[in-house]
Amino acid sequence: MSDNLAKPRSFKRLFRNWLSWAGIVLGTSALFAFLLLVAIDQFAGHRNPYVGILAYVVAPGFFILGVALIAIGVLLQRRAEGRALRGAAPRVLRIDLSRPRDRKILAVFAACSVGFLFLTALGSYQTYQYTESVQFCGQTCHLPMEPEFVASQHAAHAKVECVACHVGPGAAAYFKTKINGVKQLYHTVANDFERPIYVTAVNPRPAQAICEQCHWPNKYAGSVERTYRHFLSDEKNTPFTVRLLLNVGGGDPSNGPEGGIHWHMNIANKIEYIATDDRLLSIPWVRMTNDKGVITEYRTPDFKGDPSQYRIRRMDCMDCHSRPAHKTHTPNDAVELAMATGRIDPGIPWAKSKVVAALVQPYTTKTEALQKIASSLHEAYPDPVQADRLINETQAIYRANFFPEVKLDWRTHPDFVGHKNWDGCFRCHDGKHTAADGKMSIKASDCRSCHLILAQGSGQQLEQVNAKGHDFVHIDAEYAEFSCTECHTGGIQK
Ligand code: HEC
Ligand code: HEC
Ligand code: HEC
Ligand code: HEC
Ligand code: HEC
Ligand code: HEC
Repeated sequence: MSDNLAKPRSFKRLFRNWLSWAGIVLGTSALFAFLLLVAIDQFAGHRNPYVGILAYVVAPGFFILGVALIAIGVLLQRRAEGRALRGAAPRVLRIDLSRPRDRKILAVFAACSVGFLFLTALGSYQTYQYTESVQFCGQTCHLPMEPEFVASQHAAHAKVECVACHVGPGAAAYFKTKINGVKQLYHTVANDFERPIYVTAVNPRPAQAICEQCHWPNKYAGSVERTYRHFLSDEKNTPFTVRLLLNVGGGDPSNGPEGGIHWHMNIANKIEYIATDDRLLSIPWVRMTNDKGVITEYRTPDFKGDPSQYRIRRMDCMDCHSRPAHKTHTPNDAVELAMATGRIDPGIPWAKSKVVAALVQPYTTKTEALQKIASSLHEAYPDPVQADRLINETQAIYRANFFPEVKLDWRTHPDFVGHKNWDGCFRCHDGKHTAADGKMSIKASDCRSCHLILAQGSGQQLEQVNAKGHDFVHIDAEYAEFSCTECHTGGIQK
C-alpha cells in the first residue's frame, strides 16, 4: 500500500465531477425557488393555485432530483478512482467522534437533515391539504371541471369538499385518485379530455357508502313540503305555483312507518336494474328482492333481450339524487327563480319566454353567447335601462349554468329526482313495467302515491289548501299519464 492512500484525503474531491456540479446547481436553485414560492404563497393577497403546485410539488421535485444527481456523481467518481488504483482496497468513510472536526461535521449534518425533514414534512402536508381542496379540484383543473365547480357553489353541498364525495376514506383511496389525477392532468394538458365529462358509465360514481358518511339511511324523513314557483310563457308571465307534499317516508320500521319514496333506500330490500344506455335513461328491466327474499322481475313489453348481457346495477341514492352537488339549472327553472326573487321583473311583458329563448340558442363560446344575449334583448326591449338590467341577470344565469367550451348544460346530465324534465321516477314507474303477476304497484297515473298537491295556481287559488290533495290542474293544456318529458324539456315547451 502506498503512503498517499493511508493519509485521509479530502472528501470534497469526490464532488469534483460534472454530474455533481449540475446537481448542486439544480438543487440550490430549486431550494431558492421553493423558498421564494412559499413566501409568495403565504404573503400574496389572494392565493393562486398554480403557485401552490409549483411551490409544493414542482420545486421539491427538482430539489430531490438535484440531490440524486450529486449522489450519483459521487458514486461514479468513487468507482472511477477505485478502478484507477486497481488492486487497492476500497476506501472506507470513517467517522471518528474523538476528532473535533468529525464531531462538528456530524452536528452540522444532523441539524441540516432535521431542518430539511421538517420543511419537507411541512411542505408535503401542505401539498396534501392543498390537493384535497376545492380550489385544487375546481380551479387548477379549471377548464374540464369548471361546470362542476361552479354548479356546486349553488347546491345544498356547497360547503362539502369535492373529495368528501369523490375520494373514499383512507390512504389507498387518496393515492388511487391522485394517480387517476395524473392521467387527467395529462389529458388536460393535451387538451383531449372528454367534453362533457361523464362518470356514470366509465368510472363508477360515488358509492352509497360515501353519502352515508354524512346521511343516515335509516332516518325517517316523513312528508317533505316543496313549493315550485313557475311563470308561464305568456305576455303577462302569469305565475303558476304548485305546493307538493312529498311522501318521502323512510325504509327502517324502527324509526317510522316503512314506505314512501325512501323505501328504496335498500335497507330491507334490494332493487336492481339494467340500463340500455350510458346515461341510464332507459331502464327496461328491474328486479326486486324483498325482505323475505322473494324475487320479482319487471320488464317493459318491448324488451325481449337477456338482462345478463348488460351490467346489472343496484339502485342507490344517485339513481334519484343524480345531481346532489352539480345541479345546472334548466333555463326555465333559472329564469323562474330569478322572477320569483325579483331579480327579473315579472312585469316586463314576455320576459319569461324571451329570456329563455335567448339562453337556449346554440352558442359555441361563452363570449359569443354573452354578446348575442345582449344584442337580442336590446332589440326586444328598446328602453336601455330596462334592457340593461335584464341583460345583466340573463348573462349571470348563463354563466352559472351553461358551459359551451366543455359542451355541458342542463341537457347533458340528467336530474332524476322527479319526472317533469327527465323521466326520473318514470323510468321505472311508467306503468309499462310488468311482472308475471301484474304491474308495478306505483304507476305514473297514481299521482297521489308519491305526493299530494296541497295547492296550485296563483293568488287566491293558493289559499285553497286541500289535505287530501287536489287533482292536478294543468293550465289549459292536455296532459295524460304519458310522460311529461314529451313536452317539458327544461327549455322551450314543445
Ligand atoms: C355531495 C357529493 C359530491 C360533491 C361534494 C362533489 N361531487 Fe362531483 N359528483 C357527484 C356525483 C354523485 C356525480 C355523478 C353524477 C351522475 O352520475 O350524473 C358527480 C360527478 C362529477 C363529475 C363528472 C361529470 C358530471 O358532471 O357528472 C365531475 C368532473 C365532478 N363530479 C367534479 C366535482 C368537483 C370538482 C367537485 C368540487 C367542486 C365535486 N365534484 C363535488 C357527487 C359530488
Ligand atoms: C361530507 C358530508 C356529506 C356527504 C358525503 C354527502 N352529503 Fe348530502 N348533505 C350534507 C349536508 C350538510 C346537507 C344539508 C345542507 C343544508 O341543508 O344546508 C346535505 C343535504 C343533502 C340533500 C338535501 C338537498 C336539499 O336540496 O335539501 C340530499 C338529497 C343529499 N344531501 C344527498 C346526498 C347524496 C346522494 C350524497 C352522496 C353522493 C351525499 N348527500 C353526500 C352533507 C353531505
Ligand atoms: C327513489 C328515489 C330516491 C332514493 C333512492 C333516495 N332518495 Fe332521497 N329523496 C328522494 C326524493 C324524491 C326526496 C324529496 C324531494 C327532493 O328532495 O327533491 C328526497 C329527499 C332527500 C333528503 C332531504 C330530506 C329532508 O328531510 O329534507 C335527503 C337528505 C336525502 N333524500 C338523502 C338520500 C340519501 C342519502 C339516499 C341514499 C341512501 C337517498 N336519499 C335515496 C328520492 C330518493
Ligand atoms: C330502477 C327503478 C326505479 C326507479 C328509478 C324508481 N323506483 Fe320507485 N319503486 C321501484 C320498485 C321496483 C318498487 C317496488 C315495486 C312495487 O311497489 O310494485 C318501487 C316502489 C316505490 C314506491 C312504493 C314504496 C312503498 O311504500 O312500498 C314509491 C312511493 C316509489 N317507488 C316512488 C319513487 C319515486 C318518487 C321515484 C323517483 C324519485 C322512484 N320511485 C324511482 C323501482 C323504481
Ligand atoms: C313515482 C312517484 C311519482 C308519481 C307517480 C307522480 N309524481 Fe309528480 N313528482 C314526483 C317527485 C319525486 C317530484 C319532485 C321532484 C323534485 O323534487 O324536483 C314530483 C313533482 C311533481 C310536480 C312539480 C314539478 C314542478 O317542477 O313543478 C308536479 C306538478 C307533479 N309532480 C305532478 C304529478 C302528476 C300530475 C302526477 C300524476 C299524473 C304525478 N306527478 C305522479 C313523483 C311522482
Ligand atoms: C302535451 C304536452 C304536455 C304534457 C304531456 C305535459 N305538459 Fe305541462 N305544460 C305544457 C304546456 C304547453 C305548458 C304551458 C307552458 C308555458 O306557458 O310556459 C305546460 C305547463 C306546465 C306547468 C307550469 C309552467 C311551467 O313551465 O312549469 C307545470 C308545472 C307542468 N306543465 C307540469 C307538467 C307535468 C308534471 C306533466 C306530466 C304529468 C306535464 N306537465 C305534462 C305541455 C305539456
